[in-house]
Order: sequence, then structure tokens, then C-alpha cells
Amino acid sequence: MVLEVRIRAVASDHPVRRAPSEFDEWGEISPEAKAMEILRWLIEAQISGAWLEVGNLSAHPVWYGPTESSKAMNIGIGILEEFRGQGIGGIAQRLLAEELHRNGYVRVEASTDITNFAEQRALHKAGFICEGTLRKAQGRADGLHDLQVWSHIS
Ligand SMILES: CC(C)(COP(=O)(O)OP(=O)(O)OC[C@H]1O[C@@H](n2cnc3c(N)ncnc32)[C@H](O)[C@@H]1OP(=O)(O)O)[C@@H](O)C(=O)NCCC(=O)NCCS
Repeated sequence: MVLEVRIRAVASDHPVRRAPSEFDEWGEISPEAKAMEILRWLIEAQISGAWLEVGNLSAHPVWYGPTESSKAMNIGIGILEEFRGQGIGGIAQRLLAEELHRNGYVRVEASTDITNFAEQRALHKAGFICEGTLRKAQGRADGLHDLQVWSHIS
């Protein structure tokens, strides 16, 4: 039984356990994207009295103008397969949005495939609002996909 969930910032090159999914089959990764500044957190849950790594979160900056107040953070999440469907994803994304708000970011956003209903549900439970569809925004191994964009505002 899951008792508690916490997130812990780690270095961007910290080894994380992979959480494979059909929405994570990229094909060739762009060198420019590899060079992008990405912040990372481990998600840990207290299960039967022990803290276990159950997934990870990331965040990268998105600029909507040349001013500090135009800088949003776009977050991503992966929960290890054996820990999905227990409410951890919703709690973890809420915790990260709150941490980023404390660090001064008003806009925290998440973009997810229009068919990723589990993530849409988790974002809703985390207090994010769906703002609309980004057409043909994400190229994966099998081609271009439409994304939904969600935001959590402080
Ligand atoms: C998406 C993900 C982060 C959600 O985390 P989670 O801990 O499994 O999610 P939660 O348990 O908080 O909630 C999942 C919700 O989605 C629902 N759900 C799960 N699979 C679903 C599906 N195929 N269709 C519709 N709803 C679904 C669950 O019923 C639950 O809703 P409920 O609480 O109303 O019952 C996790 O499943 C995951 O890591 N998936 C693979 C990676 C991924 O897709 N990352 C996001 C990329 S943008």
C-alpha cells in the first residue's frame, strides 16, 4: 500500500530507472535536444515502510518572450510499470508544480499525446488545466503527433 510520495532533485546525469512507454519511442535523438538544459527529480514512494524509487520527473525551460517572467517550465514524467495506476503520477506532478512555483515560475506546463488518457487524468488530478491542442508538435519514431498542452499556474 502506498503511504506517501516525495520528489527529490538529482543531477541531470543521475542514473534513473527507465519507465518505457509507447509515448517514449523516439527514434533518432537530435544533438541540439541532447544539449538542452534538463532538470531531474526522482519520485519515491513509501511502500510497506520503505522508500522506493518509483519513477522520475524532468523539467526544461520554455521561453515565451525575452523577459524572465516569460520563462515557463515544461515537465515530463515516467512511472515504472509496476507502480502505475496507484495515484502516484498525479501526486508527483502536483508536488513538482508546487516546487517550481516556490522557485519563482508562475507557469508550469505539461504536454502529452492526445491519446495518453492516463497522463491526462493524472494531470487533471494534479490540478492542471487543459488549454488545447498543439498540432503535429511531436515527432516520434512513427511520425508526427498532436499534443495536448496543460498548465498549472501559481
Ligand atoms: C501517465 C502516468 C505518468 C500516470 O501516472 P500513474 O501513477 O499511473 O497515474 P494515476 O494512478 O495518478 O492516474 C492514472 C489515471 O489514468 C487512468 N487510466 C489509466 N490508463 C488509462 C487508459 N488507458 N485510458 C483511460 N484512463 C486511464 C486511471 O484509471 C487513473 O484514473 P483514476 O484515478 O480516475 O482511476 C504513468 O502511467 C506513466 O508513467 N505512463 C508511461 C509514461 C507516460 O505516459 N508519461 C507521460 C508522457 S507525457
